[in-house]
Amino acid sequence: MQLPVKHLRNGDSIPGIGLGTFGSDRYDPRTVSSAVRQAIDMGYRLIDCAAVYGNEPLIGEILDEVCRDSTNPVRRSDLFIVSKVWNDSHGKRDVYRSCTQSLKDLRLEYLDLYIVHWPFPNYHPKGAPPDYHNPDAKPYIHERFMETWRQMERLRQAGFVRHIGTSNMTIPKLEKLVQDCVIMPSANEMELHPTFQQPELFDYCRELNILPIGYSPLGSPSRPQRDKTPDDLVDMEQDVVTSIAKNHGLHPAQVCLKWAVQRGQVPIPFSVKEKQLLSNLEAVSGEPLSDQEMEKLKEVDSDNRLIKGQVFLWDGAKDWRDLWDINGQITT
Ligand SMILES: NC(=O)c1ccc[n+]([C@@H]2O[C@H](COP(=O)([O-])OP(=O)(O)OC[C@H]3O[C@@H](n4cnc5c(N)ncnc54)[C@H](OP(=O)(O)O)[C@@H]3O)[C@@H](O)[C@H]2O)c1
Repeated sequence: MQLPVKHLRNGDSIPGIGLGTFGSDRYDPRTVSSAVRQAIDMGYRLIDCAAVYGNEPLIGEILDEVCRDSTNPVRRSDLFIVSKVWNDSHGKRDVYRSCTQSLKDLRLEYLDLYIVHWPFPNYHPKGAPPDYHNPDAKPYIHERFMETWRQMERLRQAGFVRHIGTSNMTIPKLEKLVQDCVIMPSANEMELHPTFQQPELFDYCRELNILPIGYSPLGSPSRPQRDKTPDDLVDMEQDVVTSIAKNHGLHPAQVCLKWAVQRGQVPIPFSVKEKQLLSNLEAVSGEPLSDQEMEKLKEVDSDNRLIKGQVFLWDGAKDWRDLWDINGQITT
């Protein structure tokens, strides 16, 4: 199977599709780590991990098993492993600690990409309800974010990680980072699916040679209840997506993934089911969508943000729109 490949700003290659591993609130972590093994055997090479997903030690067992098995053709250098520093580990001391813990858990000597998971230094407990306001929650403050970023740069300079990146950023936040950083982010992980295309942020990233990695590429049909609001739609049920899928004899999920790869982002769909893992991989290796279909899919965008991050609200930001700088200026 010929899988797509993209390139990062220094020319390094990155697989054009990856596997998401945030399933800890729906599946036993061992189910997720078994899916990682199945996925690698099938041909997935990019695995999107995070400390907060609570399954890095089990995924580490799998990575160790794969890389140590001399009969398995997959070597460490064939894999592209991503991890992320969680909101409770920002700042001068904790970024290093968090990265070395992820390396230990994942049983790796280096990460291919290390990401600041959210731009907010705060904490929320597992299963927090949507209206949860954590007294420890902290707003985004550029100077504080830069303290975290400086540590990310050190990790890169010291060789613990090959690339550093951001996630859940907005254009105003990225503008400030780009102005003050020594090392530019190689990638920005952001919500991207046909009903939430974020064209301005997407174009901004591409102009700066920051690769967009698209999370929830299928519209996260089984995302945590706490992130849902009644007006949420699942993009896989969109008429345009389903009619294109019918024309090609595909599943709507496969159309979402073809669209993502052809648009220029790296989708990281999550699944623990063998059939779906394979169908997602086959989608991006098969016949592409036509230019007309790609144009038609642009019309599906309804600015429908699914992952609102409302559990990170603090007293000064009572509305989830504040987190995304939608209500006005950058939140401080
Ligand atoms: N940086 C961030 O802040 C952030 C935020 C959210 C997500 N992420 C990353 O992005 C990854 C993916 O996002 P996500 O899990 O929210 O959403 P998603 O990948 O859009 O959706 C995952 C769900 O879609 C279902 N699915 C997968 N393939 C399918 C297919 N071919 N046909 C039908 N259904 C299919 C899966 O069902 P089953 O459960 O039945 O397998 C799974 O529950 C996460 O796992 C995580 O790694 C990052």
